[in-house]
Amino acid sequence: METVLSGIRSTGNLHLGNYFGAIKNFTEMQYNNNCYFFIADYHSLTTHPKPDDLHINVKKVLSEYLACGINPDVATIYVQSDVPEVTELYLLLNMLAYVGELERTTSFKEKVRKQPDNVNAGLLTYAVLMAADILIHNAHKVPVGKDQEQHLEMTRKIARRFNNLYEVNFFNEPEAYNFGKQLVKVPGLDGTGKMGKSEGNGIFLFDSPKEIKSKVMKAVTDTGPTEKNQTKPEVIENLFTIMRLVSEEEIVTFFEEKYNNCEIRYGDLKKQLAEDIIKFTDPIRKKITDIYTNNEYLSKVAKQGAEKARESANRTLKEVKKIIGFRTF
Ligand code: ADP
Ligand code: TRP
Repeated sequence: METVLSGIRSTGNLHLGNYFGAIKNFTEMQYNNNCYFFIADYHSLTTHPKPDDLHINVKKVLSEYLACGINPDVATIYVQSDVPEVTELYLLLNMLAYVGELERTTSFKEKVRKQPDNVNAGLLTYAVLMAADILIHNAHKVPVGKDQEQHLEMTRKIARRFNNLYEVNFFNEPEAYNFGKQLVKVPGLDGTGKMGKSEGNGIFLFDSPKEIKSKVMKAVTDTGPTEKNQTKPEVIENLFTIMRLVSEEEIVTFFEEKYNNCEIRYGDLKKQLAEDIIKFTDPIRKKITDIYTNNEYLSKVAKQGAEKARESANRTLKEVKKIIGFRTF
Protein backbone atom coordinates (compact mmCIF):
# COMPACT_ATOMS: atom_id res chain seq x y z
CA MET A 1 0.00 0.00 0.00
CA GLU A 2 1.30 3.43 -0.90
CA THR A 3 1.53 6.36 1.46
CA VAL A 4 -0.07 9.58 0.20
CA LEU A 5 0.35 12.90 1.97
CA SER A 6 -1.48 16.16 1.29
CA GLY A 7 -0.90 19.46 3.08
CA ILE A 8 -2.46 22.91 3.08
CA ARG A 9 -1.26 26.02 4.87
CA SER A 10 -3.68 27.53 7.35
CA THR A 11 -3.72 31.03 5.98
CA GLY A 12 -7.43 31.36 5.19
CA ASN A 13 -10.40 29.57 3.72
CA LEU A 14 -9.90 26.93 1.04
CA HIS A 15 -10.52 27.89 -2.57
CA LEU A 16 -11.11 25.96 -5.78
CA GLY A 17 -7.34 25.86 -6.45
CA ASN A 18 -6.70 24.09 -3.16
CA TYR A 19 -9.54 21.68 -3.85
CA PHE A 20 -8.39 20.63 -7.30
CA GLY A 21 -4.69 20.83 -6.44
CA ALA A 22 -4.64 18.99 -3.16
CA ILE A 23 -7.98 17.38 -2.26
CA LYS A 24 -10.08 16.12 -5.20
CA ASN A 25 -9.94 12.37 -5.79
CA PHE A 26 -7.69 11.93 -2.82
CA THR A 27 -10.85 11.66 -0.82
CA GLU A 28 -11.42 8.48 -2.87
CA MET A 29 -7.81 7.38 -2.55
CA GLN A 30 -8.08 7.34 1.23
CA TYR A 31 -9.86 3.99 1.04
CA ASN A 32 -7.04 2.09 -0.64
CA ASN A 33 -3.94 4.01 0.36
CA ASN A 34 -2.33 5.03 3.57
CA CYS A 35 -3.43 8.68 3.45
CA TYR A 36 -2.33 11.62 5.55
CA PHE A 37 -3.95 15.05 5.32
CA PHE A 38 -2.46 17.77 7.45
CA ILE A 39 -2.72 21.46 8.14
CA ALA A 40 0.56 23.31 7.84
CA ASP A 41 0.24 25.85 10.65
CA TYR A 42 4.01 26.26 11.14
CA HIS A 43 4.28 27.22 7.48
CA SER A 44 1.69 29.94 8.06
CA LEU A 45 4.01 31.68 10.55
CA THR A 46 6.25 33.10 7.81
CA THR A 47 3.81 36.00 7.48
CA HIS A 48 3.41 36.55 11.27
CA PRO A 49 -0.33 35.96 11.75
CA LYS A 50 -1.97 37.51 14.82
CA PRO A 51 -2.17 35.07 17.78
CA ASP A 52 -5.96 35.39 17.82
CA ASP A 53 -6.16 34.35 14.16
CA LEU A 54 -3.79 31.40 14.25
CA HIS A 55 -6.13 28.86 15.83
CA ILE A 56 -9.19 30.10 13.96
CA ASN A 57 -7.38 29.59 10.67
CA VAL A 58 -6.46 26.03 11.61
CA LYS A 59 -10.04 25.35 12.64
CA LYS A 60 -11.35 26.71 9.35
CA VAL A 61 -9.06 24.53 7.25
CA LEU A 62 -9.75 21.46 9.38
CA SER A 63 -13.53 21.96 9.01
CA GLU A 64 -13.23 22.52 5.28
CA TYR A 65 -10.95 19.53 4.75
CA LEU A 66 -13.53 17.35 6.53
CA ALA A 67 -16.43 18.91 4.61
CA CYS A 68 -14.66 17.89 1.37
CA GLY A 69 -15.06 14.26 2.35
CA ILE A 70 -11.94 13.23 4.23
CA ASN A 71 -12.93 10.49 6.63
CA PRO A 72 -10.95 10.80 9.88
CA ASP A 73 -11.60 7.16 10.72
CA VAL A 74 -9.97 6.07 7.49
CA ALA A 75 -7.31 8.67 6.69
CA THR A 76 -5.07 10.38 9.21
CA ILE A 77 -5.93 14.05 9.47
CA TYR A 78 -3.82 16.19 11.79
CA VAL A 79 -2.34 19.57 12.58
CA GLN A 80 1.39 19.98 11.85
CA SER A 81 2.21 21.58 15.22
CA ASP A 82 0.64 18.61 17.05
CA VAL A 83 3.45 16.42 15.70
CA PRO A 84 6.72 17.74 17.19
CA GLU A 85 8.71 14.99 15.43
CA VAL A 86 8.31 17.05 12.24
CA THR A 87 10.33 19.92 13.65
CA GLU A 88 13.08 17.60 14.84
CA LEU A 89 13.36 16.05 11.40
CA TYR A 90 13.33 19.57 9.94
CA LEU A 91 16.43 20.41 11.98
CA LEU A 92 18.20 17.28 10.80
CA LEU A 93 17.28 17.85 7.16
CA ASN A 94 18.50 21.45 7.33
CA MET A 95 22.03 20.02 7.43
CA LEU A 96 21.42 18.51 4.00
CA ALA A 97 19.96 21.60 2.31
CA TYR A 98 22.28 24.19 0.81
CA VAL A 99 21.65 27.91 1.23
CA GLY A 100 22.40 28.58 -2.45
CA GLU A 101 19.78 26.18 -3.73
CA LEU A 102 17.18 27.41 -1.24
CA GLU A 103 17.80 30.98 -2.37
CA ARG A 104 17.19 29.90 -5.95
CA THR A 105 13.70 28.43 -5.41
CA THR A 106 10.98 30.36 -7.24
CA SER A 107 8.77 30.61 -4.16
CA PHE A 108 11.60 32.17 -2.11
CA LYS A 109 12.47 34.66 -4.82
CA GLU A 110 8.80 35.60 -5.12
CA LYS A 111 8.52 36.19 -1.37
CA VAL A 112 11.63 38.36 -1.42
CA ARG A 113 9.92 40.45 -4.07
CA LYS A 114 6.52 40.52 -2.36
CA GLN A 115 7.60 41.04 1.26
CA PRO A 116 11.06 42.66 1.16
CA ASP A 117 10.71 43.79 4.80
CA ASN A 118 10.19 40.27 6.09
CA VAL A 119 12.68 37.97 4.41
CA ASN A 120 13.05 35.70 7.43
CA ALA A 121 15.05 32.46 7.64
CA GLY A 122 11.79 30.50 7.90
CA LEU A 123 10.99 31.57 4.35
CA LEU A 124 14.39 30.42 3.19
CA THR A 125 13.95 26.98 4.75
CA TYR A 126 10.24 26.70 3.87
CA ALA A 127 11.03 23.87 1.47
CA VAL A 128 13.00 21.98 4.11
CA LEU A 129 10.06 22.05 6.52
CA MET A 130 7.91 20.79 3.68
CA ALA A 131 10.41 18.00 3.03
CA ALA A 132 10.20 17.08 6.71
CA ASP A 133 6.37 16.95 6.47
CA ILE A 134 6.64 14.51 3.60
CA LEU A 135 9.59 12.39 4.70
CA ILE A 136 8.36 11.99 8.28
CA HIS A 137 5.85 9.47 6.86
CA ASN A 138 8.11 8.43 4.00
CA ALA A 139 5.31 9.31 1.56
CA HIS A 140 5.31 7.97 -2.01
CA LYS A 141 2.83 10.41 -3.51
CA VAL A 142 2.10 14.03 -2.72
CA PRO A 143 -1.01 15.60 -4.25
CA VAL A 144 -0.15 19.19 -5.09
CA GLY A 145 -0.83 21.87 -7.64
CA LYS A 146 1.71 22.95 -10.21
CA ASP A 147 3.15 25.68 -7.98
CA GLN A 148 4.61 23.06 -5.63
CA GLU A 149 6.52 21.07 -8.24
CA GLN A 150 9.85 22.66 -7.33
CA HIS A 151 9.37 21.98 -3.63
CA LEU A 152 8.82 18.32 -4.40
CA GLU A 153 12.01 18.28 -6.42
CA MET A 154 13.82 19.69 -3.38
CA THR A 155 12.31 16.97 -1.18
CA ARG A 156 13.62 14.32 -3.56
CA LYS A 157 17.07 15.92 -3.55
CA ILE A 158 17.20 15.92 0.24
CA ALA A 159 15.97 12.32 0.42
CA ARG A 160 18.60 11.25 -2.11
CA ARG A 161 21.35 13.10 -0.26
CA PHE A 162 20.43 11.42 2.99
CA ASN A 163 20.44 7.99 1.37
CA ASN A 164 23.78 8.66 -0.34
CA LEU A 165 25.52 10.21 2.65
CA TYR A 166 24.58 7.39 5.00
CA GLU A 167 24.70 4.70 2.34
CA VAL A 168 21.17 3.51 3.02
CA ASN A 169 18.01 3.13 1.01
CA PHE A 170 15.79 4.62 3.64
CA PHE A 171 13.79 7.50 2.17
CA ASN A 172 11.53 7.13 -0.87
CA GLU A 173 11.78 9.82 -3.49
CA PRO A 174 8.21 11.17 -3.37
CA GLU A 175 6.36 12.05 -6.50
CA ALA A 176 4.20 15.15 -7.04
CA TYR A 177 0.88 13.79 -8.06
CA ASN A 178 -2.51 14.81 -9.35
CA PHE A 179 -5.67 13.21 -10.67
CA GLY A 180 -4.89 14.01 -14.29
CA LYS A 181 -1.62 13.29 -16.03
CA GLN A 182 -0.37 16.77 -15.26
CA LEU A 183 -0.30 18.90 -12.16
CA VAL A 184 -3.22 21.30 -12.02
CA LYS A 185 -3.09 25.07 -12.00
CA VAL A 186 -6.46 26.64 -11.32
CA PRO A 187 -6.32 30.21 -12.63
CA GLY A 188 -7.75 33.26 -10.90
CA LEU A 189 -10.57 35.17 -12.57
CA ASP A 190 -8.61 38.41 -12.73
CA GLY A 191 -6.23 37.36 -15.48
CA THR A 192 -3.22 37.45 -13.15
CA GLY A 193 -2.36 33.74 -13.03
CA LYS A 194 -2.99 31.23 -10.27
CA MET A 195 -5.91 31.39 -7.89
CA GLY A 196 -4.52 31.90 -4.41
CA LYS A 197 -5.49 32.85 -0.88
CA SER A 198 -3.25 35.86 -0.80
CA GLU A 199 -3.90 36.95 -4.38
CA GLY A 200 -7.43 38.21 -3.60
CA ASN A 201 -8.78 36.35 -6.63
CA GLY A 202 -10.14 33.20 -5.01
CA ILE A 203 -13.49 31.50 -5.26
CA PHE A 204 -13.77 29.92 -1.84
CA LEU A 205 -15.60 26.73 -0.99
CA PHE A 206 -17.41 28.72 1.67
CA ASP A 207 -18.50 31.58 -0.61
CA SER A 208 -22.27 32.04 -0.81
CA PRO A 209 -23.97 31.48 -4.17
CA LYS A 210 -24.41 35.24 -4.39
CA GLU A 211 -20.69 35.88 -3.87
CA ILE A 212 -19.75 33.22 -6.40
CA LYS A 213 -22.06 34.72 -8.98
CA SER A 214 -20.76 38.20 -8.39
CA LYS A 215 -17.11 37.08 -8.62
CA VAL A 216 -17.65 35.12 -11.82
CA MET A 217 -19.69 37.85 -13.50
CA LYS A 218 -16.83 40.27 -12.77
CA ALA A 219 -14.19 38.01 -14.37
CA VAL A 220 -11.97 39.74 -16.88
CA THR A 221 -12.76 38.97 -20.55
CA ASP A 222 -11.92 40.51 -23.92
CA THR A 223 -14.05 41.88 -26.78
CA GLY A 224 -14.64 38.43 -28.26
CA PRO A 225 -13.19 36.28 -31.05
CA THR A 226 -12.96 37.78 -34.51
CA GLU A 227 -11.75 34.74 -36.45
CA LYS A 228 -13.10 31.21 -36.47
CA ASN A 229 -11.12 28.68 -34.38
CA GLN A 230 -8.68 31.29 -33.14
CA THR A 231 -6.50 30.56 -30.11
CA LYS A 232 -8.07 31.87 -26.92
CA PRO A 233 -6.29 34.63 -25.04
CA GLU A 234 -5.29 33.73 -21.48
CA VAL A 235 -8.23 35.40 -19.70
CA ILE A 236 -10.71 33.42 -21.79
CA GLU A 237 -8.77 30.17 -21.57
CA ASN A 238 -8.86 30.65 -17.78
CA LEU A 239 -12.67 30.61 -17.76
CA PHE A 240 -12.67 27.45 -19.86
CA THR A 241 -10.09 25.83 -17.57
CA ILE A 242 -12.37 26.29 -14.57
CA MET A 243 -15.36 25.18 -16.60
CA ARG A 244 -13.59 21.94 -17.55
CA LEU A 245 -13.16 21.23 -13.83
CA VAL A 246 -16.73 21.90 -12.66
CA SER A 247 -19.09 21.56 -15.64
CA GLU A 248 -20.43 18.63 -17.63
CA GLU A 249 -18.49 17.80 -20.78
CA GLU A 250 -21.41 18.71 -23.09
CA ILE A 251 -21.59 22.18 -21.60
CA VAL A 252 -17.90 22.78 -22.19
CA THR A 253 -18.21 21.51 -25.77
CA PHE A 254 -21.22 23.75 -26.35
CA PHE A 255 -19.32 26.90 -25.34
CA GLU A 256 -16.14 25.79 -27.12
CA GLU A 257 -18.17 25.54 -30.33
CA LYS A 258 -19.78 28.92 -29.75
CA TYR A 259 -16.31 30.41 -29.29
CA ASN A 260 -14.92 28.72 -32.36
CA ASN A 261 -17.83 30.01 -34.45
CA CYS A 262 -17.43 33.54 -33.03
CA GLU A 263 -20.93 33.32 -31.57
CA ILE A 264 -20.02 33.30 -27.93
CA ARG A 265 -21.69 35.62 -25.45
CA TYR A 266 -19.46 35.89 -22.43
CA GLY A 267 -22.43 36.80 -20.22
CA ASP A 268 -24.00 33.38 -20.97
CA LEU A 269 -20.72 31.59 -20.40
CA LYS A 270 -20.23 33.28 -17.03
CA LYS A 271 -23.80 32.62 -15.93
CA GLN A 272 -23.40 28.94 -16.69
CA LEU A 273 -19.99 28.81 -15.02
CA ALA A 274 -21.30 30.48 -11.86
CA GLU A 275 -24.22 28.05 -11.76
CA ASP A 276 -21.92 25.04 -12.12
CA ILE A 277 -19.49 26.27 -9.47
CA ILE A 278 -22.42 26.81 -7.09
CA LYS A 279 -23.75 23.33 -7.84
CA PHE A 280 -20.30 21.88 -7.29
CA THR A 281 -19.55 23.66 -4.01
CA ASP A 282 -23.07 23.48 -2.57
CA PRO A 283 -22.80 20.14 -0.72
CA ILE A 284 -19.39 21.12 0.70
CA ARG A 285 -20.56 24.58 1.80
CA LYS A 286 -23.55 23.07 3.58
CA LYS A 287 -21.31 20.81 5.65
CA ILE A 288 -18.69 23.42 6.60
CA THR A 289 -20.78 25.37 9.14
CA ASP A 290 -22.04 22.24 10.87
CA ILE A 291 -18.53 20.92 11.30
CA TYR A 292 -17.02 24.30 12.22
CA THR A 293 -19.47 24.79 15.08
CA ASN A 294 -18.98 21.27 16.46
CA ASN A 295 -15.98 21.83 18.74
CA GLU A 296 -16.32 18.48 20.40
CA TYR A 297 -16.07 16.66 17.08
CA LEU A 298 -13.15 18.77 15.86
CA SER A 299 -11.23 18.21 19.05
CA LYS A 300 -11.79 14.45 18.82
CA VAL A 301 -10.67 14.39 15.19
CA ALA A 302 -7.52 16.44 15.88
CA LYS A 303 -6.55 14.32 18.86
CA GLN A 304 -7.08 11.04 17.08
CA GLY A 305 -5.18 12.33 14.02
CA ALA A 306 -2.24 13.58 16.08
CA GLU A 307 -1.95 10.22 17.81
CA LYS A 308 -1.91 8.28 14.55
CA ALA A 309 0.48 10.73 12.89
CA ARG A 310 2.87 10.71 15.85
CA GLU A 311 3.05 6.95 15.79
CA SER A 312 4.27 6.95 12.20
CA ALA A 313 6.46 10.03 12.75
CA ASN A 314 8.12 8.50 15.75
CA ARG A 315 8.99 5.36 13.86
CA THR A 316 10.67 7.35 11.09
CA LEU A 317 12.51 9.72 13.39
CA LYS A 318 13.91 6.91 15.54
CA GLU A 319 15.26 5.17 12.47
CA VAL A 320 16.69 8.38 11.01
CA LYS A 321 18.52 9.21 14.23
CA LYS A 322 19.91 5.71 14.41
CA ILE A 323 21.17 5.97 10.84
CA ILE A 324 22.81 9.34 11.57
CA GLY A 325 24.60 7.82 14.54
CA PHE A 326 22.73 9.02 17.61
CA ARG A 327 22.92 6.54 20.47
CA THR A 328 21.39 6.71 23.92
CA PHE A 329 23.60 6.11 26.98
P1 ADP B 1 -2.48 29.17 -1.46
O1 ADP B 1 -1.59 29.13 -2.65
O2 ADP B 1 -3.85 29.52 -1.77
O3 ADP B 1 -1.92 29.95 -0.29
P2 ADP B 1 -1.48 26.78 -0.27
O4 ADP B 1 -0.16 27.39 -0.51
O5 ADP B 1 -1.82 26.46 1.12
O6 ADP B 1 -2.59 27.69 -0.94
O7 ADP B 1 -1.63 25.48 -1.16
C1 ADP B 1 -2.11 24.25 -0.69
C2 ADP B 1 -2.24 23.29 -1.83
O8 ADP B 1 -3.16 23.79 -2.80
C3 ADP B 1 -0.93 23.04 -2.58
O9 ADP B 1 -0.87 21.69 -2.95
C4 ADP B 1 -1.06 23.90 -3.80
O10 ADP B 1 -0.33 23.40 -4.89
C5 ADP B 1 -2.54 23.81 -4.07
N1 ADP B 1 -2.98 25.01 -4.80
C6 ADP B 1 -3.07 26.27 -4.34
N2 ADP B 1 -3.51 27.11 -5.30
C7 ADP B 1 -3.70 26.34 -6.42
C8 ADP B 1 -4.16 26.60 -7.75
N3 ADP B 1 -4.53 27.82 -8.12
N4 ADP B 1 -4.21 25.57 -8.61
C9 ADP B 1 -3.86 24.31 -8.24
N5 ADP B 1 -3.44 24.00 -7.01
C10 ADP B 1 -3.36 24.98 -6.10
N1 TRP C 1 3.96 24.29 0.73
C1 TRP C 1 2.59 23.97 0.49
C2 TRP C 1 1.94 25.20 -0.13
O1 TRP C 1 2.33 26.30 0.14
C3 TRP C 1 1.88 23.55 1.75
C4 TRP C 1 2.59 22.38 2.32
C5 TRP C 1 3.39 22.39 3.41
C6 TRP C 1 2.60 21.05 1.80
N2 TRP C 1 3.91 21.14 3.62
C7 TRP C 1 3.45 20.31 2.65
C8 TRP C 1 1.98 20.43 0.72
C9 TRP C 1 3.69 18.96 2.42
C10 TRP C 1 2.22 19.08 0.50
C11 TRP C 1 3.08 18.35 1.34
O2 TRP C 1 1.06 25.03 -0.90
